Amino acid sequence: MTQFAAVTFAETDLDSIADAAGRVAVVVSPDGKLGPSARRVNKLTRGALKRLVESEGFPKAEGSVITLNWPAGLVAEALEIIVLARRATAEDVRGAGAALGKSHDTRDLLLLGGNLVPLPELIEAAVLRAYDYTDHKTEETKPLGAITVQSNDAEATKAAAADLLAVAQGVFFTRDLVNAPANDLTTSSFADRLSEMSALGLKVEVLEEDELQRLGMGALLSVGQGSASPTKVVVMQWKGGGDEAPLALVGKGVVFDTGGISLKPAGGMEDMTMDMGGAGTVAGAMRAIALRKARANVVGLVGLVENMPDGLAMRPGDVVTSMKGDTIEVTNTDAEGRLVLCDVMWYAQDRFKPAGMIDLATLTGAIIIGLGHHNAGVFSTDDALCNALIGAATDVGEGAWRMPLGKAYAKQLKSRVADVNNVGGRPAGSITAAEFLRRFVKDETPWCHIDIAGVASVKAETTFAPSGGTGWGVRALDRLVRERFEPKG
Ligand code: BES
Ligand code: MN
Ligand code: ZN
Repeated sequence: MTQFAAVTFAETDLDSIADAAGRVAVVVSPDGKLGPSARRVNKLTRGALKRLVESEGFPKAEGSVITLNWPAGLVAEALEIIVLARRATAEDVRGAGAALGKSHDTRDLLLLGGNLVPLPELIEAAVLRAYDYTDHKTEETKPLGAITVQSNDAEATKAAAADLLAVAQGVFFTRDLVNAPANDLTTSSFADRLSEMSALGLKVEVLEEDELQRLGMGALLSVGQGSASPTKVVVMQWKGGGDEAPLALVGKGVVFDTGGISLKPAGGMEDMTMDMGGAGTVAGAMRAIALRKARANVVGLVGLVENMPDGLAMRPGDVVTSMKGDTIEVTNTDAEGRLVLCDVMWYAQDRFKPAGMIDLATLTGAIIIGLGHHNAGVFSTDDALCNALIGAATDVGEGAWRMPLGKAYAKQLKSRVADVNNVGGRPAGSITAAEFLRRFVKDETPWCHIDIAGVASVKAETTFAPSGGTGWGVRALDRLVRERFEPKG
């Protein structure tokens, strides 16, 4: 797994600043006040900070980072001046942390945090942004420099950062999975990577094709029919709570989506290595929850399958039977994600009677038309769960926007020959996909569906991530678990 920089915590030590190697980062307040560390840096640099804060145009935008290379008076190669108020907003802190992380390389970093209140979040953003996927580079990759954080209460900073860094491990896990090519991340190697998480205290089970057949998962199995890779369902249980019903997280894990016999065009098809993003997010969230030992019961279920065209592949027009018993006319084999999810969602409810169920999937291109790459689409039958989820996403800086459901959309899925069609035509493609899934949600299950097709992997860098897999949703789901499924205090 991609490792992030080692982070250690220490008390403020003004005498360590002059000789620190690599980079030194110091916080100055937008009102121009310098704390003890900044005053020492100012003295060592013969007034550089004072000149900055007294210069015309200061304060710069809050959350900005000004780099001073080869600063006189310091051994360090660079001085990073972070403009942040002691109680800076989450957004400003993320911006500053991301700027620090983006330029983090093999050089060590001494972060002079002083009494900055959101210091843990600053560290979190820096660590998240300093990600680089190098699994398939042959050139030796040198480890990132160590980050030493000095603050006025090192123990408290360390304790507050610990959970955030545990969750960052989950985010990196998801990104690695999303970035992996499909000849590396097969259904089998994916299941193996998830099985390894049993070392973290998760109970991990892998259901193989014969078992899925016995369970009646005809919709899921039909998707993998044309692939040489076996279809699998992986169940990851975290039991950190009492006897209460768990939250179920369900993920679409299509390791590659050619479209099947309804073949996709060649241009851009390589992007479909990320079509397991829902499963990747569920896996990362489970890793985060286990690493920080959440006091909640959460079960993650992923359907791992490859959608390939082949002599054995499902044909357009085939009718398949889901575990629920509903028959599905598959008019388009490229609308495969819903076939995966419907069986895994039914199984999740049948077996675990969850207190809530959230499914995540790179489900439709249409959600990208609607929301672009800045918001995932959220569909729900339960306002309370939905509001909590969107609130959690907003709190951690992950975009999420609610979309409608409705009977009129469900009507578009009428089939002449079966109970339901797997496609509902071009209009409102993301909503008809969600309506398809809704058929497989029991009345008593509070449910949210998140279409992450636009946010799971992106071409342009975001605040927290370089281009490629973002890990979107791991932090939101972790936050939701913390706020809604764990005891307070
Ligand atoms: N995996 C795709 C959706 C997708 C598109 C994800 C772009 C990420 C980026 C999904 O399986 C799919 O092919 N959906 C079809 C549905 C259509 C056939 C009803 C789509 O969106 O075109
Ligand atoms: Mn598809
Ligand atoms: Zn797909």
